Amino acid sequence: MFKSVFISVFIGTALIVAAFIINAKRPAKETAQPGAEFVRATGKCAECHRKETSAVVHQFQRSRHAAKWVNCLDCHTALEGQESQEHRGFTIAKHLTAKNCSQCHATEYNQFIKSRHGAPAWAAVTGKGDFTPEQIAFAETYHRGAVDRAANQLAILEGPGAINTGCLGCHDIGKPNEDGSIGTCTACHARHSASIALAREPETCGQCHMGPDHSQIEIYHESKHGVIYNAQKRDMNLSAEPKKLSTADMSVPTCATCHMSGLEGLKVTHDTTERLSYWLFAAVSEVRPTYQQGQDAMKEVCLKCHTQPYVDKFYQEAEVVVGATNTKIKDAKVLMASLREEGLLTPQAFDELIEFLYFDLWHYYGRTAKHGAFMGGADFVQWHGNYELLLKMTEMKEIAAQLRENHAKR
Ligand code: HEC
Ligand code: HEC
Ligand code: HEC
Ligand code: HEC
Ligand code: HEC
Ligand code: HEC
Ligand code: HEC
Ligand code: HEC
Repeated sequence: MFKSVFISVFIGTALIVAAFIINAKRPAKETAQPGAEFVRATGKCAECHRKETSAVVHQFQRSRHAAKWVNCLDCHTALEGQESQEHRGFTIAKHLTAKNCSQCHATEYNQFIKSRHGAPAWAAVTGKGDFTPEQIAFAETYHRGAVDRAANQLAILEGPGAINTGCLGCHDIGKPNEDGSIGTCTACHARHSASIALAREPETCGQCHMGPDHSQIEIYHESKHGVIYNAQKRDMNLSAEPKKLSTADMSVPTCATCHMSGLEGLKVTHDTTERLSYWLFAAVSEVRPTYQQGQDAMKEVCLKCHTQPYVDKFYQEAEVVVGATNTKIKDAKVLMASLREEGLLTPQAFDELIEFLYFDLWHYYGRTAKHGAFMGGADFVQWHGNYELLLKMTEMKEIAAQLRENHAKR
């Protein structure tokens, strides 16, 4: 009895002593780092925040940042143009933006602001009003008409409540910040875990890329890629370093793989526009000025896993869907234009039923058919796409006939 108590006391003491020895060693190593005062500062932030906001500290500790000696103040220090506040003996920034991340990740930031995730995303809702002339000029060189534009009519009609927590809940990925930078990196990375594994999860993109007007996440889960991913993701290495990501780490693609990743030595990009060839979100989809480069870049990704004839056939079939959808939308567009010419519709947007039908026709069903064709969602090309296109067009024709009949009677 005495012996076993003695042994456990002995082992306990030994463990405590060992912990002290390890701990005594650690600060010595840490303080030998270039930013010794920052390391100590992080200790202070963490010590207190472990009690106040424990989850933040746990997330941070598991991150690559902690492993690489990036500390709390590296991110939380106020930079030029940022408001600061006194905080428990430290001075920290009131708000953090993409600018804080870009200190160390300039390449990613510079790619990001060239994409439609930058200024175009915000301007799609609020128009150009919140941007400086320089910011507008910069964005317009990459996306003509995407920032130098008026505020969205539907948004105005729905009002500030809908805009702020609705539209901008997704479109704030490209918010202009007070410090002059644009957007936020934490839409795909988290504030304290900064994980590429998280960014590669389809659900991360699906936070915004979902619903009837951009059903990318639904299409993905229906596609063969999505089904295999969901079945096999446990065996994949989602945190493989981007510059070394191989098909052994991920043998099926997620959104990130096709649109961003550096699979098998390809160039990683934060410009999600780089690999696209059509403006699929538009009512009538024209080819982009970067059609050939965009298509070549995306096909290069497919070709890491598929053969050339297979990929070419896939693209040919998808392009047929784009063409056929364009024809259907154009018919509806002509119908709307002639009703306007005949004076049967008011000039105001969204005040007549047929305007909503037309909007649904291209914004929901036309887009869905095109997205389905390019990302492997047969049900979306057909039942959520073409079938609805036919139905809405029939309804529109019926309303148009009625409007004309009523007008003739008057
Ligand atoms: C002695 C405890 C303590 C220390 C040390 C401390 N904090 Fe805090 N911190 C708090 C508490 C408590 C809050 C909750 C809001 C408040 O009371 O200010 C907070 C809030 C915050 C917030 C949110 C502020 C806001 O405006 O919403 C940030 C960011 C933050 N701390 C970062 C840090 C960083 C970075 C450090 C180290 C440089 C640090 N804290 C050191 C206790 C502390
Ligand atoms: C990689 C950069 C980065 C590092 C490192 C970092 N933070 Fe943060 N932290 C952020 C960002 C970004 C936000 C969101 C701030 C905002 O929206 O203005 C944030 C927010 C916070 C908040 C407010 C959280 C809330 O939900 O209310 C606290 C508290 C905080 N950080 C504490 C810490 C502490 C303590 C450390 C170190 C252990 C730390 N942070 C390290 C980037 C970082
Ligand atoms: C003080 C410099 C610094 C700041 C500020 C900083 N980072 Fe980092 N970041 C690093 C370093 C260093 C690494 C590790 C690079 C490596 O492993 O080679 C890293 C790695 C990353 C990674 C890759 C993580 C992984 O799983 O491999 C992401 C994502 C990331 N940072 C995002 C951010 C975001 C988002 C912010 C702003 C909220 C930010 N960083 C702020 C220095 C910084
Ligand atoms: C659930 C997230 C989400 C909400 C809420 C949302 N959007 Fe979007 N929006 C997106 C995504 C994602 C795209 C990209 C679609 C694509 O390229 O297929 C997009 C595309 C657009 C586009 C077309 C692209 C462009 O630059 O012209 C416009 C315009 C737009 N949204 C306006 C709005 C307005 C106005 C609201 C509110 C009435 C709104 N959005 C609400 C996520 C959202
Ligand atoms: C916080 C919301 C949000 C998240 C998260 C998000 N996106 Fe987006 N994305 C948008 C919005 C909004 C647009 C439309 C911007 C516009 O054209 O006005 C968009 C547009 C795009 C486009 C079209 C770009 C173009 O040139 O037309 C692609 C591709 C894209 N996103 C891919 C992704 C991928 C891949 C992820 C995940 C790794 C992702 N997005 C995460 C909101 C988001
Ligand atoms: C197998 C590769 C692949 C996967 C996986 C994939 N996409 Fe795509 N995506 C494409 C292709 C190909 C296009 C059409 C490219 C073009 O325009 O030439 C496209 C188009 C898009 C567009 C349309 C941009 C526009 O012009 O309106 C968005 C947005 C988008 N994808 C987002 C996503 C999101 C979010 C996911 C995950 C839920 C995803 N993609 C998964 C290959 C993929
Ligand atoms: C649309 C989602 C999205 C946004 C927004 C985003 N990232 Fe990323 N980021 C990713 C994905 C996905 C990867 C992994 C790429 C891969 O699979 O090769 C990544 C990788 C990274 C890496 C590791 C790169 C490398 O080559 O090792 C860093 C650092 C990083 N991001 C920083 C940032 C910064 C800084 C911002 C803001 C300017 C940002 N990210 C915004 C999705 C995003
Ligand atoms: C990381 C590897 C990878 C990438 C990148 C990739 N795929 Fe796939 N794809 C697969 C795998 C694995 C399967 C399943 C093959 C099987 O059934 O064994 C698949 C299946 C398919 C299928 C068959 C669907 C079915 O119903 O049988 C099509 C079509 C397809 N991919 C097209 C593409 C296109 C187009 C691209 C590029 C835009 C692409 N893939 C990119 C790995 C990939």
